[in-house]
Amino acid sequence: MHVSWNTTHDLVIARTSQEGRDPSQPIYQTNLGSAYCGDSQQILRSPSFDTCKGKVQLAFTSPPFPLNTKKKYGNLQGEDYIAWFANYAPLLRDMVTDDGSIVIEIGNAWVPGEPVMSTHVLEAFLRFLKKGDLHLCQEFIWYNPARLPSPIEWVNRERVRVKDAFTRIWWMSPVTRPKADNRKVLRKYSPSMRRLIETGKYNAGARPSEHHIGAESFKVDNQGAIPPNVGGVDALPSLDGLITPIGFAEYLEQNTNLLKAANTLSSDGYRKFCLDRGAPVHPARMPATLVEFFVKFLTDEGDQVLDPFGGSNTTGAVAQSLGRRWLSVEADWTYAAHSIGRFEPSQVISTCDDMVITPIFSDTQEGAQSVQTSYEPDSEATFFNQ
Ligand SMILES: C[S@@+](CC[C@H](N)C(=O)[O-])C[C@H]1O[C@@H](n2cnc3c(N)ncnc32)[C@H](O)[C@@H]1O
Repeated sequence: MHVSWNTTHDLVIARTSQEGRDPSQPIYQTNLGSAYCGDSQQILRSPSFDTCKGKVQLAFTSPPFPLNTKKKYGNLQGEDYIAWFANYAPLLRDMVTDDGSIVIEIGNAWVPGEPVMSTHVLEAFLRFLKKGDLHLCQEFIWYNPARLPSPIEWVNRERVRVKDAFTRIWWMSPVTRPKADNRKVLRKYSPSMRRLIETGKYNAGARPSEHHIGAESFKVDNQGAIPPNVGGVDALPSLDGLITPIGFAEYLEQNTNLLKAANTLSSDGYRKFCLDRGAPVHPARMPATLVEFFVKFLTDEGDQVLDPFGGSNTTGAVAQSLGRRWLSVEADWTYAAHSIGRFEPSQVISTCDDMVITPIFSDTQEGAQSVQTSYEPDSEATFFNQ
């Protein structure tokens, strides 16, 4: 029997979390991970996280942007944002293993009212690196062709800037050689490369670029091409035609055998879960394939992945689907609680008092799989779908 929300299990989520809830305790857990709700700086510093220190193989996250942070979390701008962001560096460094990685994605920020880019993101990254005494292992660019033209004032109205269509991803580590294996994220060979390997026919020798191509260079089948550090590029227009490298995430999207339709990876199940409960869908969800690339590249099955700005918990869901353990912290109750919709009821092993799971029984069904919860029936919380 397929176990799913609204079919075999109902889940009622309190509109607000009860006062006095201990944020250092998970709001829900699966067999592989725990989701927390609260300020991640506080939670990571709490004694209950002491046991996680030095155990996280990958801290992967997308923090709020400078200038756009919600008032609720301080509405930090400029130097305040940079200092706040850099405070996470020693915290995350303490969490990762001796050969662990910290991967952070941030989009571009613009100076309000001017067609000028803010350098705060770059400054924040540099301060983070310095404060955490970290190495920059590699910078990645994530190109998002589907992004709406922005900043709209300068791109669409005044037409003095072009579409801002990429985000920057920094892969950092306390060591220069963190655990990584690009053989786990190889791209499918292009048809021409495959032909070349099969026929072994090409011109060896010097190239204008001063590279020397050896007679045996392309004869070995390495089971796939090494991906570039630019992702999302399917057909990027160039001045002299089209360059079409498949980006790192596209590779995974096209070739992965993960079930994209499963609730965990596709945002569709999560979206429906939120809409069914009248809850807002997280507006800044990360593509699952982006997370998948780094989780595969930098961790092995059983390793621990941490996201301190979890949002809709894309990171936890991807980690779960790849057999990695995970920890996710999100400050906003509604986003944090509804991220449970990315998991199947059968994966959830416990919830806090503000999230109540009940099995649904039908005439044709002998009994739904039971989920252990800490539900107290007399809870006076107001629930979203009441
Ligand atoms: C860019 S979103 C992350 C989206 C996420 N990657 C996803 O796929 O859904 C950043 C999140 O950080 C949360 N946040 C902001 N300040 C926080 C804090 N101090 N502690 C924990 N979460 C925070 C915001 O509520 C927001 O949901």
